[in-house]
Amino acid sequence: MCGIVGYLGDRQAFDILIKGLHRLEYRGYDSAGVALVNDDGNLNVYKTKGKVKNLEEYCKDKNISGTVGIAHTRWATHGEPNDKNAHPHYSQSKNLAIIHNGIIENYLSLKTFLINKGYEFKSETDTEVVVQLIEYVMQEQKCDLYKAVHQALSQVVGAYAIGVVERNNPNLLIAARKASPLIVGVGENEYFLASDASPIIEYTNKVIYLNDEEVVKIERNQEIEIRNLKSVKLQPTIKELSLNLDDIEKGGFDHFMLKEIFEQPKSLALCMNGRLNKELNEIKLSAITDYYEKFEKCKRIVITACGTSWHAGLIGKYLFESLCRIPVEVEVASEFRYRNPVILPDDILIAISQSGETADTLAAMELAKKQGAFVFGICNVVGSSVARMTDTGVYTHAGPEIGVASTKAFTTQVAVLVMTALAVAKKLNTITEEDYHRIVKELSVIETKIEEILKQVDTIKDISKIFTYAKNFIYLGRGFNYPVAMEGALKLKEISYIHAEGYPAAEMKHGPIALIDEEMPIVVVAPHYAMYQKILSNVQEVKARKGRIIAIVSQGDEDIKKNADYTIEIPSTEECLSPLLTVIPLQLLSYYIAVAKGRDVDQPRNLAKSVTVE
Ligand code: G6P
Repeated sequence: MCGIVGYLGDRQAFDILIKGLHRLEYRGYDSAGVALVNDDGNLNVYKTKGKVKNLEEYCKDKNISGTVGIAHTRWATHGEPNDKNAHPHYSQSKNLAIIHNGIIENYLSLKTFLINKGYEFKSETDTEVVVQLIEYVMQEQKCDLYKAVHQALSQVVGAYAIGVVERNNPNLLIAARKASPLIVGVGENEYFLASDASPIIEYTNKVIYLNDEEVVKIERNQEIEIRNLKSVKLQPTIKELSLNLDDIEKGGFDHFMLKEIFEQPKSLALCMNGRLNKELNEIKLSAITDYYEKFEKCKRIVITACGTSWHAGLIGKYLFESLCRIPVEVEVASEFRYRNPVILPDDILIAISQSGETADTLAAMELAKKQGAFVFGICNVVGSSVARMTDTGVYTHAGPEIGVASTKAFTTQVAVLVMTALAVAKKLNTITEEDYHRIVKELSVIETKIEEILKQVDTIKDISKIFTYAKNFIYLGRGFNYPVAMEGALKLKEISYIHAEGYPAAEMKHGPIALIDEEMPIVVVAPHYAMYQKILSNVQEVKARKGRIIAIVSQGDEDIKKNADYTIEIPSTEECLSPLLTVIPLQLLSYYIAVAKGRDVDQPRNLAKSVTVE
């Protein structure tokens, strides 16, 4: 949700900033802008509606010199996506420029205060208020920019990651964060600033993850200085990134989403590496070995997340209840955080997040933590806020996920949930040795089964072309595959803009059945498990109403084939692992429908990869 980049060093900043914006474009692409301070002391701001490539075009005939600068790609919150609401924003005197990711909640009262002091506003954004306030503090208190940023941010309520530059000061870049991610890259005589590591990794693997309410002063040829909002000096901790450049490039695929779908065998292998012992058929999760007694004592688990991660959480419910016999509640974080939920003393809260920065998920965790719950995190981005806030947690190690529609993050989240549930079940003796080893063995070969499904890509592509006409889709599933139906529907909505609903198959007759006619495609997730006969009846109910059926079935299933218009086969596996397979054809189906409709798959309209605001 908005990407920010900054640079100060010996090189010209513009190209570094633009490249960085391209890498962060998954976070928002409503508008883009850049501010550069050049050696003559000029502070030039260029910004325009639309994607980063529009900004590049716009800047072609502009003076883009400068070795210090900041840049922004926006996902609009306050004010529509247009040139004037694009970042960077100047202060009144045009001596300062700011970029911001987050939301300033008290911006209206601050704006009124500043208007009364004679300040004029050019945009409808909350961000402009911050830069004006910083300037006001500088003028009132006759202090420097670093101090003014501290003072101004002390009056701000909300979330921010900001970068600020100053006219006539090509040697200074100030940044700060609270509840929005911000990383400082430390190179040779140069510093970088970014919302995540992807714009930095090309230049240095040394980074500092800023903490909440920290303000950093980056000065040419100086060590960086970090202070908290109370002006207490802090010792920066430099960490090493393990990211590769290849991880964040398309690698010959047309879209990041397709690359990430095809990466799933590898990302699952990485996720299970060192955790699943193939020789002993055992799971060892160091994150929980010291905490088994929490699972022994707890009377229930609460899982909270948003979007695709929430769907993984729904599968988690089936896993923990069936394998560990622990009751589980799953709730979207935005509801959980505001409804004054009952949190019991021994509750375990599992928070799931790809980015580790989703504002609602973080708030839900904070609430649960305050009320004494043990917080267990599952996230992908190393060093993210979720990772830092948990009592313990497991990284999914899926590698960077750049396509806005989540794919490999989902399957690795499910894999972590499976491994956790199996490890806990073994400890709690709620699973037999035989079942445990059989499921672990199956999990250890799941990658090869995904590879088999991926080989059917051409069949899925052909099916996709047939359904580009559709305005609506229904996805049906039962048990472990009910959340998969919801996830399939979400994927389609996100990238093709076709309305789709995921439903528990038997619930169809209580409403959605009214929608079925010869135009309506129904995707049925129907692998051969306990509920198979029931779902077969649901398929017949659809067929009787002339719906067009695409069925995801177990290899060799002849019964559903008689009723379905199209079938996609998945290899056999344990039922509790089946979501790892059934979701793959649904990801491909939505991808190819979106491509056939000419959609912008990696950057679908109105969406952002990481929603760091409410
Ligand atoms: C956004 C993304 C989704 C993602 C959701 C939760 O809506 O577009 O793909 O599932 O946020 O994100 P998280 O990073 O917390 O998993």
